[in-house]
Amino acid sequence: MKRILLLSLALVSVIIISCNQSTKTKEMVKKDVFGTHNGKEVYLLTLTNKAGNVIRLTNFGAKINWIEVPDKNGKKDNITLGYDSFEETLKGDKYFGAVVGRFANRIANGKFTLDGVVYHTPLNDGPNTLHGGPLGWHSVVWNTEVVKDSKFPSVKFTYVSPDMEEGFPGKVDASVTYTWTDNNEIVMDYTCTTDKKTIVNITNHAYFNLHGAGNGDILDHVVTLKASAFTPVDSVMIPTGEIRQVAGTPFDFNTPHPIGERINDKYDQLKLGKGYDHNYILDNKEEVDVTVYEPVSGRMLEVLTDQPGMQFYTGNFLDGTQIGHGGKVYKYRSGMCLESGHYPDSPNHADFPTTVLNAGETLKSTTIYRFSVKSN
Ligand code: GAL
Repeated sequence: MKRILLLSLALVSVIIISCNQSTKTKEMVKKDVFGTHNGKEVYLLTLTNKAGNVIRLTNFGAKINWIEVPDKNGKKDNITLGYDSFEETLKGDKYFGAVVGRFANRIANGKFTLDGVVYHTPLNDGPNTLHGGPLGWHSVVWNTEVVKDSKFPSVKFTYVSPDMEEGFPGKVDASVTYTWTDNNEIVMDYTCTTDKKTIVNITNHAYFNLHGAGNGDILDHVVTLKASAFTPVDSVMIPTGEIRQVAGTPFDFNTPHPIGERINDKYDQLKLGKGYDHNYILDNKEEVDVTVYEPVSGRMLEVLTDQPGMQFYTGNFLDGTQIGHGGKVYKYRSGMCLESGHYPDSPNHADFPTTVLNAGETLKSTTIYRFSVKSN
């Protein structure tokens, strides 16, 4: 009798503990249906940290949909470009908040060679392949797993990219885990493995406006970017192969400068890029690679990465045609991107850090977006 009683007590406590745990997970990560795409369910995941701040993610393109953080007076606003509904997300700008792969940025003429075999990828940006092709990883439905053993709200998205998808060899197993810490950091942990030699360059393409998405442009955002050199581009945005020192040019952000201060200078690369749209070669000497400070709200974004490059893009192609969250218009230069990763067109530049991933190897990389406020 006593044994039965003890056993039932143990059973009851196990049930109570597991119920508590699932309530805890539920509080930190809420999963709602956002829509369906190609027969697969698309979710909107709401992650709330202990500071009470919220980010939203979707498994469509493994995108960041919403980042709501306070300004210096405690007023919260969403500071990333995105859409309220799945229909708008599907029809709208492809890259807002997306995980971009299998090869982020451009591949010249949609062509590269691996072990003597020439591969062709679709041309979706003039003569080049951009962001893994039109049906790249930004456009697919990823599998969703709410990470249960995490101290912070955390969601893992996984995707199996078939052999020869968008022309790339090898079946790649990709994952991105987003963790929203209590310190208002979005930690993005990426992994990729392949069954055949391939190339991978994975990034996140969130657009930021620290005034709040849709509230004016980003020209007053003050940027510090720890990079001594960048890779100049040609007229179709392909690196020429030159490694140019930033010292004495409008590309030098080693000390803080507002984006708008020199963006219209008569400088060849600003003309070719229609503003800043270039890969910086990170010095990787300090913990924080990029700091962005917006003086009106006091909001600050820091970017930390283990990657060799950072595409600094000032929303030069935004033109007011996109209507985002809350009906707000996303005008010219109303968002900026900091895309950590490898240099554009690396497969065609033997002297750039390699983007080759071999069978049996695991690509692991981490980038962090950290949000805070500064009061002066
Ligand atoms: C960026 C790229 C820009 C533009 C943008 C998408 O990563 O550097 O040139 O293509 O994506 O609109």
